[in-house]
Amino acid sequence: MRDLSAAEILAVLDLAGELKAKAKRGEPHPYLAGKTLGMIFQKPSTRTRVSFEVAMYQLGGYALYLNAADLQLGRGETIADTARVLSRYLDGLMIRTYAQSDVEELARYADIPVINGLTDLEHPCQILADLLTVREHKGRLAGLKLAYVGDGNNVCHSLLLGCAKVGMDISVASPPGYWPREDIVEAARAAADETGSRVEVGADPVEAVRGADVVVTDVWASMGQEKEAGERRRIFAPYQVNGELVRHAREDFIFLHCLPAHRGEEVTDEILDGPHAVVWDEAENRLHVQKALLVMIMGS
Ligand code: CP
Ligand code: NVA
Repeated sequence: MRDLSAAEILAVLDLAGELKAKAKRGEPHPYLAGKTLGMIFQKPSTRTRVSFEVAMYQLGGYALYLNAADLQLGRGETIADTARVLSRYLDGLMIRTYAQSDVEELARYADIPVINGLTDLEHPCQILADLLTVREHKGRLAGLKLAYVGDGNNVCHSLLLGCAKVGMDISVASPPGYWPREDIVEAARAAADETGSRVEVGADPVEAVRGADVVVTDVWASMGQEKEAGERRRIFAPYQVNGELVRHAREDFIFLHCLPAHRGEEVTDEILDGPHAVVWDEAENRLHVQKALLVMIMGS
């Protein structure tokens, strides 16, 4: 999200809306005919893998699923050499990995566009889908308040940057020690200064949710943190999004979760299956925003 300007974010959302309408009308839109996308996965995925693969198919192109463990990357071939080789076959790359520096290294040595499909630091494609979902349900972005309750993780980081850039207020509540990274918060504050929005980070979930138009949470233990899951369940217990907490949000708030959800931990069934949840639209919108992104960076 650091790489995208506010205008670029809004352009992705606009094109996503157009492509979504075309898809719903059954109108073909083969803007990437003959193009190929490689998708490197070092972590599991349901939504990212399927939505990118279907996106390329619907755009007339082709997507290759590349499990990092099955590539020579898993046997020590460098990221730089992998980037150089894959650039000779493919028109674009998507990578889901641990270190943000791996995505940046891949991008540095590749001659083709590289998309971050989630790192420990960021999850930008998810936040593009979240912003499209909010705009569809609320009719606007600027001036709304989003509350993020939970771990100061990759989703939280990308939300901080994305909300600030489009002029949404964002209020984060996380247990002390689990706050978002300071450099990301600073970058979000700098963007918010330009749009006149507010960025708040604190430890009180009620304060964060008060008056919120959008309430968001995510798992307490992300991929790679499985060993900490037990300890985190205890520490994060007061941060569960449940009926009691959302009483402090606006009456017409919407609830987002990137999924997969751990029902009964960060969110209750009552909220996830309740009338305020728009999580299935949110999951669908991964497809539409990624199609827009692919056309914008790989289209001729
Ligand atoms: N939200 C998301 O990225 O889901 P997956 O891990 O299933 O791709
Ligand atoms: N924060 C979660 C998001 C999963 C889509 C993780 O990194 O596991």
